[in-house]
Amino acid sequence: MSIVHVVGARPNFMKAAAVMRALAGRGAVQILVHTGQHYDAGMSDVFFEQLDLPAPEINLAVGSGSHAQQTAEVMLRFEPVLTQHQPDLVVVYGDINSTLAAALVSSKLGIAVAHVEAGLRSHDRTMPEEINRILTDQISDFLFTPSEDAVSNLLGEGISEKKIHHVGNVMIDTLIRLLPRAERLTLPELPDRYALLTVHRPANVDDCSWLSRLLLTLRHVRIPILFPVHPRTRKQIEKMGLEGDSDSLRFLQPLPYLEFLALQKRAALVITDSGGIQEETTFLNIPCLTVRENTERPITIAKGTNTLVGRDLLRLRTEIERILNGHRKPAGAVPLWDGQAAARIADVLLGQAMAASA
Ligand code: UD1
Repeated sequence: MSIVHVVGARPNFMKAAAVMRALAGRGAVQILVHTGQHYDAGMSDVFFEQLDLPAPEINLAVGSGSHAQQTAEVMLRFEPVLTQHQPDLVVVYGDINSTLAAALVSSKLGIAVAHVEAGLRSHDRTMPEEINRILTDQISDFLFTPSEDAVSNLLGEGISEKKIHHVGNVMIDTLIRLLPRAERLTLPELPDRYALLTVHRPANVDDCSWLSRLLLTLRHVRIPILFPVHPRTRKQIEKMGLEGDSDSLRFLQPLPYLEFLALQKRAALVITDSGGIQEETTFLNIPCLTVRENTERPITIAKGTNTLVGRDLLRLRTEIERILNGHRKPAGAVPLWDGQAAARIADVLLGQAMAASA
């Protein structure tokens, strides 16, 4: 079976690493295509090294742009790759613009599409990722879900049960594999007790007044906050002249996967608007405050350590204080977040291929 995997931005890399390893172990012929949506070395190359991902055979180098430009460029540049290589299957990951673009091109060429991390819904169509999720799921042939809520969402949208495979979370596969390596890292000296912050969603960073109020609030937290800054966020912070460190808020460059994992593991709490970090903190049993009105990962609230604080700075301060005073949400294990999700995906895909050739 020949398989093309498409990745484009940071969170895709951890997911593809797990799936490609599982399929390589079963002898699939695989080609990795990077769309180039993320292109800075710190946002891309270093992840390939740490995750033991092969260097992409093809880089479409689409770079940044408006949603229409980015999606259209991936489509234009990906189509000839498929006509040349004629794979049996294209695997896409997550919910970024590259995911939808690659799925559209493949399905129009009659090539089967597998969507890893299918079925997640924030039910908020102002998020570009929500549009990408809904449309990618509609045109995919294999929908691999990370949690039960995702299965219900897909069934509710009329997607055939036959296409849905509930396999668990591939991001957690990679975390389980690499956590021992992350724990062995020698890190620069860290404060005894610190919070870790990430923020990059348009809803949080494109609105300058909100972002400055958020950062001002965090400057008054009584423990240091380590803040690896996404390029999108850095642009805004520089525009507003907010980049000076304070005792509490410490600006860092974007961190590689292992370093970030090590920092999460030792954090007193994590404040974020990322999807993947909500999952990782739940698995690591670290308190997480999500600065969003909604989440496509409700399982991390129901079963995990995550709390949604919305756009409410008073609530954010109160929840931070509660955690620092020792109040922790009790967290349980999420079913199938067990390090074997990618193996289940490989079994489904290669089982299907064998059935087709029989
Ligand atoms: C994208 C995804 C988002 C994901 C995030 C992870 C979409 C719609 N959004 O958002 O779901 O959570 O990746 O990081 O696909 N930039 C750089 N260097 C880079 C990449 C980006 O400087 O390597 C800057 C550019 O100014 C760019 C901006 O960041 O305009 C935003 O990048 P983009 O790829 O459009 O979206 P993200 O905000 O990274």
